[in-house]
Amino acid sequence: MTNPISLPAYYNDLEGSFAEAWTLLEAGVTHRHSPAHMPTVGTVDEDGAPQLRIMVLREVSRDSRTLRFHTDARSDKATQLKHSTATSILIYDHAAKAQIRLSGHASVVSEGGVADGAWLGSTPFARRCYMAEAAPGTTIAEPSSGLPEWIEGKQPEEEQLADYRGNFAAVMFEANSIEWLYLANPGHRRARWHWDQAQNLWLGSWLIP
Ligand SMILES: Cc1cc2nc3c(=O)[nH]c(=O)nc-3n(C[C@H](O)[C@H](O)[C@H](O)COP(=O)(O)O)c2cc1C
Repeated sequence: MTNPISLPAYYNDLEGSFAEAWTLLEAGVTHRHSPAHMPTVGTVDEDGAPQLRIMVLREVSRDSRTLRFHTDARSDKATQLKHSTATSILIYDHAAKAQIRLSGHASVVSEGGVADGAWLGSTPFARRCYMAEAAPGTTIAEPSSGLPEWIEGKQPEEEQLADYRGNFAAVMFEANSIEWLYLANPGHRRARWHWDQAQNLWLGSWLIP
């Protein structure tokens, strides 16, 4: 016999499942050990092939349906996003037994208040990776961090970082679809919500898992 008490309140609650999905996403920003802190972010390359990588989740806004990430403006993903904005984000929260799959569009934001705020809001140590002299992914003859030798193993000062601000970009993702899969012994639950632009709201329905 299954104990129904062990099931969460949102198990059969579509609105509650939607809210829980956002709560788990938001935890990714504030809790560095939360699975949502390092989602898999998928873009599409120039040949139409999916390209996946782990990125640190920096900000979530339920209201504007946006997620913020940081990257090197010279990276392949930045090039891919200029070619195609289609982006997908995947999280599996083992403790919550929930898979969350977001689809939407992302843009590379290198200039302006959002990018400047994201740059200044990052620790000097986190910003050190933007000091790499060549673009990420550049083929090299010897193993290397790509950083200038004088900064290896050190934390840069604010004024040392200023020259490298141009290598930094925020990636702003806007969700237009959220899919939820909750794993449970009595029966899994799956739901999907689409952002309805005309009505300015999320429309959701249960799906066969
Ligand atoms: C734990 C972890 C966190 C990472 N966080 C980021 C990140 O926040 N931003 C980023 O651009 N790359 C991050 N990376 C590196 C990417 O996964 C990827 O290797 C790199 O950005 C190159 O990807 P691209 O060639 O698709 O642009 C992270 C990797 C790991 C393993």
